[in-house]
Amino acid sequence: MRYDFDRIVDRTGTESLKWVYPRKVLGVEDAIPMWVADMDFEAPPAVVEAVTRRAAHGVFGYPLVPPSFFEAAIAWLRRRHGWAVEKKWMAMTPGIVPALNYCVRAFTRPGDPVIIQTPVYHPFYYAIENNGRRVVRNPLRFDGRRYTMDLDDLRTKIDAPGRMLILCSPHNPSGRVWSRDEIEALGRIAVERDLLVVADEIHHDLVYRGHRHHVLAAISPELAQQTITCIAPSKTFNTAGLATAAVVAANPDLHKKFEDEEERSGFDLGNALGIVAFEAAYRHGEDWLEELLPYLEANVDFLDRFLAERVPGVRLVRPEGTYLALLDCRDLGIAPDGLNDFFLRKAGVYFSDGKIFGDEAAGFVRINFGCPRAQLREALERIERAVAGTVSS
Ligand SMILES: Cc1ncc(COP(=O)(O)O)c(C=O)c1O
Repeated sequence: MRYDFDRIVDRTGTESLKWVYPRKVLGVEDAIPMWVADMDFEAPPAVVEAVTRRAAHGVFGYPLVPPSFFEAAIAWLRRRHGWAVEKKWMAMTPGIVPALNYCVRAFTRPGDPVIIQTPVYHPFYYAIENNGRRVVRNPLRFDGRRYTMDLDDLRTKIDAPGRMLILCSPHNPSGRVWSRDEIEALGRIAVERDLLVVADEIHHDLVYRGHRHHVLAAISPELAQQTITCIAPSKTFNTAGLATAAVVAANPDLHKKFEDEEERSGFDLGNALGIVAFEAAYRHGEDWLEELLPYLEANVDFLDRFLAERVPGVRLVRPEGTYLALLDCRDLGIAPDGLNDFFLRKAGVYFSDGKIFGDEAAGFVRINFGCPRAQLREALERIERAVAGTVSS
């Protein structure tokens, strides 16, 4: 192993949202944060070196986006995802959440419905509702172990041509990596019903053995014409604080509308360090990712075994990708409204409350296991003690 993911990196003093929020804002001084989606690992050395080199220059005026920025992403998408992308299809964006907001404004009108597959990453709701559009839910099916898409229901939710779906693939928070069959079936409906799909594929690189990410836009040329794909190195390489991502739209009309909306929002030149990190990650990060993936997967195994053996009432919904997973806590006998607070106050572990992803996930919490194993173990031991305390009291 070239990279030491067991090493604890102290994030104190870096104003990390993940650490400061539960400890200082919610006031649980020793809380272990297992919520917002960043990892407690250093980015790949090549990324740190590139950013350090750029920072050492000392002048931070407005940057241009060099062609090599897009070329690095194009090579990555071809190599890792078998997807042939052209530079003119791409646009830089300060993040995927901003991009979702631009898409909602660019491709729908106030009052229009936008479909999402719930429970889902909560900023999908905000991007729709904060822009005066209507959330239409296409809830996932849950059989107690695994989530699947409900495509019959989806058909009934597309009430007119030109409607929009925001797809989360791989899916946060369920951890599903949609199969080829599922993506193809969704794609067929989209083409038949002239559904525009904004495909948030930010987690595309974080996929475990036995699974494969399928790029929606790569399924067929028709689908490519009605899809905008959001990608970023930020989840894969832990660079979310550098606020640099990209969208891909093969359809020139969609591409232009997206860029126009981005311009109207005032976004223009981007982040000098983020641009450098984006390119370095895609160019030089692959061997780091190849070691990260088995480490994360071993965290999943550890989590699964620990809960099954030691924490009655809490079940892992086993993720196929991402470093996020739902914990089904409905057998604990704790009211959903008090669940996350129970874990924070009684165990000193801060998760994301399932309810923020949709009512369907009430009684669940989402764990972020992108951290050194020792930290995961400590959090789980705290949970074990807190749950044992409720049962015995
Ligand atoms: C599905 C999904 N989209 C977007 C984001 C955030 O993207 P960004 O930081 O580029 O706005 C996250 C972060 O957790 C996510 O899970």
